[in-house]
Amino acid sequence: MRIPSTRLLFVPCLLALAATPAAAAGQQDAPAPREARIKIDLDRTIGEVHPHVFGHFAEHLGRMIYGGIYEEGSPLSDADGFRQDVMAAVEALDVSILRWPGGNFASGYNWKDGIGPKASRPVRVEGAWNALESNRFGTDEFLRYAERIGADPYICINLGLGTIEDARHWVEYTNESRATAWADARRRNGRDAPWNVKYWALGNEIDGPWQLGHKNADDYAKVALEAAKAMRTVDRDIKLVANGASNFGADWIGWNRTVLRALRNHVDYIALHTYVNNRDDDVEKFLGGWSRRIEHYIDTTAAQIREAQAGQPDPRPIHIAYDEWNVWYRAFEKEQLEEIYNAEDALAMGMFFNVFFRHADVVKMANLAQMVNVIAPIMTSREGLFLQPTYFPIVEYGKQRGNLSLDAWVSGPTYTIAPSPVPIQYLDVSATYAPATKDLFVNVLNRSRDRAITARVEHQTGDLPPEAAVWELHPSDLKATHTFGDDRKVRPSTRTVRIDSAGDGFSYTFPAHSLTILRLRLP
Ligand code: AHR
Repeated sequence: MRIPSTRLLFVPCLLALAATPAAAAGQQDAPAPREARIKIDLDRTIGEVHPHVFGHFAEHLGRMIYGGIYEEGSPLSDADGFRQDVMAAVEALDVSILRWPGGNFASGYNWKDGIGPKASRPVRVEGAWNALESNRFGTDEFLRYAERIGADPYICINLGLGTIEDARHWVEYTNESRATAWADARRRNGRDAPWNVKYWALGNEIDGPWQLGHKNADDYAKVALEAAKAMRTVDRDIKLVANGASNFGADWIGWNRTVLRALRNHVDYIALHTYVNNRDDDVEKFLGGWSRRIEHYIDTTAAQIREAQAGQPDPRPIHIAYDEWNVWYRAFEKEQLEEIYNAEDALAMGMFFNVFFRHADVVKMANLAQMVNVIAPIMTSREGLFLQPTYFPIVEYGKQRGNLSLDAWVSGPTYTIAPSPVPIQYLDVSATYAPATKDLFVNVLNRSRDRAITARVEHQTGDLPPEAAVWELHPSDLKATHTFGDDRKVRPSTRTVRIDSAGDGFSYTFPAHSLTILRLRLP
């Protein structure tokens, strides 16, 4: 959650190193002795890394839509107004699911303003971000865009100032195949076949006092329940996402409990939102403290789901949709949320994905907030774009979609973050396995600012191959940023290393403040 300020490639270059444990480690001349162990056991699976964990979010906010993905009249845009250069960068992200239209924007949005001939769509004062909304990009434009990039559309209804009836009509407009008033309106607007929007959020951050139409948990649960019933009268197959906690400064546990109790037989997901920051300018605290906190939010919410389901022999499965997450602390409304990311923020992408992977049994959707210009990995001008440092880990982790997440066991050097005495491993690890290709991925974030850590990576259930593919982000300057014409400073390197797999393991040295993905094709 963030309160708006005004409201309070793997391209292997075969680098065959001498097959000694030290050289196998790769990059340090004089590696430290083995200090850590990472044990991988293919039988210890957590769950599927759902493809929807690589979702994104596109809100009507600043230059996310207008001037981001959509720029009518630009020589860079196609006949639909979609920026082609942006679409190419978005396609490389392989977006699995795209959330729209907000965010806070959703709580004041009337979707009926955004359909039909563009010239007759009304311009409205937009209440969430103090802007004017032209409505030239609406439901059909969004759904066409999602279709073009191959993403499942995910629509957030207005449960702030909106009505249940509007939500029901929206489902009818997008999903109804028979000749009804709203389905015929869709046909008149150029789309004959239903769009079949499967994923719908029952509002956005209604727990936050900054939200238009903010409600207490009881009032939200009542309206969300009725909206769920009404929307399913149109399409019984839709999947619904309840607002879970975004306002962690308030009684967020009480909010989740009330919502889950009321909606446990009606919703498929509960949403969580978290934005992290490095305001203390302490990279170890940033990468360790937030990881622990997100883990706590997920563990607690997962336990609350189980509590809500207790006594039901055959409960409706409910998963977590982490449908807003990112680093965000520098650019607020005045700057249109145009956050400039640095190298340590790129490392934080690994932190988030590692947590999501370790909870692959319950986190079945996650949406980076947001996709273009607004707290985003892609930044545009009228002439072009540049890629922020955060872009590259997102692309690389995305290659593990559909894999089985493995419960890796890690021991090694630790540190503490005051005032908590609880030790945190410097090595933040997740692992996944693709049975079809036998590819094993070991994802390691070394959170230490200064210390390279040599680990023995052990495979408990079989042999190891003679080489590993390495993707590594090891920035020389943690504060390095990108801009137009200069977006190559923080880039990953790739190589292939030979591994000395004496016994069932090999040694590898993870450089200080680095993110490494090892890929091993098991024999
Ligand atoms: O992503 C920016 C904003 O952060 C969203 O509009 C809102 O849901 C959250 O507070």
